[in-house]
Amino acid sequence: MSLNPISIYNYGADEERAEIARMSSFVGAVAIGDLVKSTLGPKGMDKILMSPGPSATHEPNITVTNDGATILKSVGVDNPAAKVLVELAKVQDDEVGDGTTSVTVLAAELLREAEKLVNQKFHPQTIIRGWRRALEAAREALEKAAIDNGNDEEKFKEDLMNVSRTTLSSKLLTQHKDFFAKMAVDAVLRLKGSGNLEAIQIIKKLGGTMTDSFLEEGFLLDKKIGMNQPKRIENAKILISNTSMDTDKIKIFGSRVRVDGTAKVAEIELAEKQKMKEKCEKIINHGINCFINRQLIYNYPEQLFADAGVMAIEHADFEGVERLALVLGGEICSTFDRPDLVQLGHCDLIEEVIIGEDRLLKFSGVARAEACTIVLRGATQQILDESERSLHDALCVLQRTVAETRTVQGGGCSEALMACAVQQLAMKTPGKESVAMEAFARALMQIPITIADNAGYDSSDLAAQLRAAHAEGKNTMGLDMEQGEIACMQKLGITESFQVKRQVLVSAAEAAEMIIRVDNIIKSAPRQRQPDHPH
Ligand SMILES: *[C@@H]1O[C@H](CO)[C@@H](O)[C@H](O)[C@H]1NC(C)=O
Ligand SMILES: *[C@@H]1O[C@H](CO)[C@@H](O)[C@H](O)[C@H]1NC(C)=O
Ligand SMILES: *[C@@H]1O[C@H](CO)[C@@H](O)[C@H](O)[C@H]1NC(C)=O
Repeated sequence: MSLNPISIYNYGADEERAEIARMSSFVGAVAIGDLVKSTLGPKGMDKILMSPGPSATHEPNITVTNDGATILKSVGVDNPAAKVLVELAKVQDDEVGDGTTSVTVLAAELLREAEKLVNQKFHPQTIIRGWRRALEAAREALEKAAIDNGNDEEKFKEDLMNVSRTTLSSKLLTQHKDFFAKMAVDAVLRLKGSGNLEAIQIIKKLGGTMTDSFLEEGFLLDKKIGMNQPKRIENAKILISNTSMDTDKIKIFGSRVRVDGTAKVAEIELAEKQKMKEKCEKIINHGINCFINRQLIYNYPEQLFADAGVMAIEHADFEGVERLALVLGGEICSTFDRPDLVQLGHCDLIEEVIIGEDRLLKFSGVARAEACTIVLRGATQQILDESERSLHDALCVLQRTVAETRTVQGGGCSEALMACAVQQLAMKTPGKESVAMEAFARALMQIPITIADNAGYDSSDLAAQLRAAHAEGKNTMGLDMEQGEIACMQKLGITESFQVKRQVLVSAAEAAEMIIRVDNIIKSAPRQRQPDHPH
């Protein structure tokens, strides 16, 4: 007879109940929040991520970053609640591109507060009811504080510059934030509201300093032109294709041709050559002067293209080809029998340009006029990678701001504002829910507190000043982390996208609510390995 409790699960399956389950959720979520907390704000710290190289003998792969999503993607977590937060950051990164750290910290702070309440025997449902009303109040306050300059072109451009600068100020590019902020705004404004970030290409070239980076109109392709082919083409008609051009050598291995002697081999070779020649002629007959192939182009076809005065570019990578097709207004084709049905790409000029030590191909005057390329320079690969991540975040936020033109104040101002609104509602609310609402307000205030902590200032003093200012109705006050004091965010131009802010608030609240609803963690049994050879 066994003394074990009766188990209703498969062997190996397991269950954690109420208190334990909730406790392990809180612990996991709070740990994740604490992990990324130190990267928040303009004075946030970076982290070094090390992952093993391709094999044990290789150098480990080093990434230096303060991007929340990148950090969270690289930590392997086993705790289910921690996983929810990691997932939350990923979604935030995919949907709005920025605010990944804020959303994780806010969700974790909410759970930290919830843990205290649960320990005081508050029922999770009471907390959720309070939080829902708090969320409503916070959202309303945020919406009321939002400013919309969408109808005033001058002002809106200034807004974009300020948003761009604010986003970059918490990232690697912060020393050169004006430089890169302008670059990002220029690139996004070129899109003219089409909002397709695909048309902005980022190329990283090692060497030089960060301020050697530049924005080029048109498209750059990191490829060489074939031998003896024109190096410069005006009024280019371009066929973009994905076809095999490598049959100039006869493939003896694996082919089933049986031959009697070398004479026969030569014959077959000749036939193959003839086929390739016909294919090239078909391609040239499209009336093109540039041919771009995703696959390799071997010597013989390369020579044929050279003879016809056609520029041929081989082995463009997948993304390169897709983007080229988009930017040049052409389509990728793989059969060449109906030239009338093929949509060719166009541009005014193709030429070689030299960046650093490399030659690149530049396509200017492209069909999609909004296309542009940002060339990033930097001394190390880590700097380049982090610059790209920072710039990408800024581009995403700007694109969001163009789509939804409202902005709010950054620097912890919006959080203090929302906390203040929630606090006021809590004071008017009778019953236990008001305690949950106060907890919500405290969690919101943790964002400015963390920003001040990370900058090394007295965070409780600054938070108290901030709270007092907002209670007096000075609702543009936030943290000035240059001077270590509270200041008017509007004057300093610390502006953020309303949509990103709202998304952070709503997603964090939803994720936290989801986690405190949990009262059971059920682990399914590990899958049994099938016996290899059942006898
Ligand atoms: C190293 O990390 C970078 C960025 O995370 C990644 O793109 C690259 O593929 C990694 N390289 C190896 C060899 O794992
Ligand atoms: C190009 O062709 C190859 C082989 O024919 C195929 O595997 C690949 O998916 C194609 N790529 C594109 C972008 O069409
Ligand atoms: C942008 O920031 C500057 C300070 O850098 C500020 O004077 C200006 O008012 C801000 N613009 C808007 C539209 O908020």
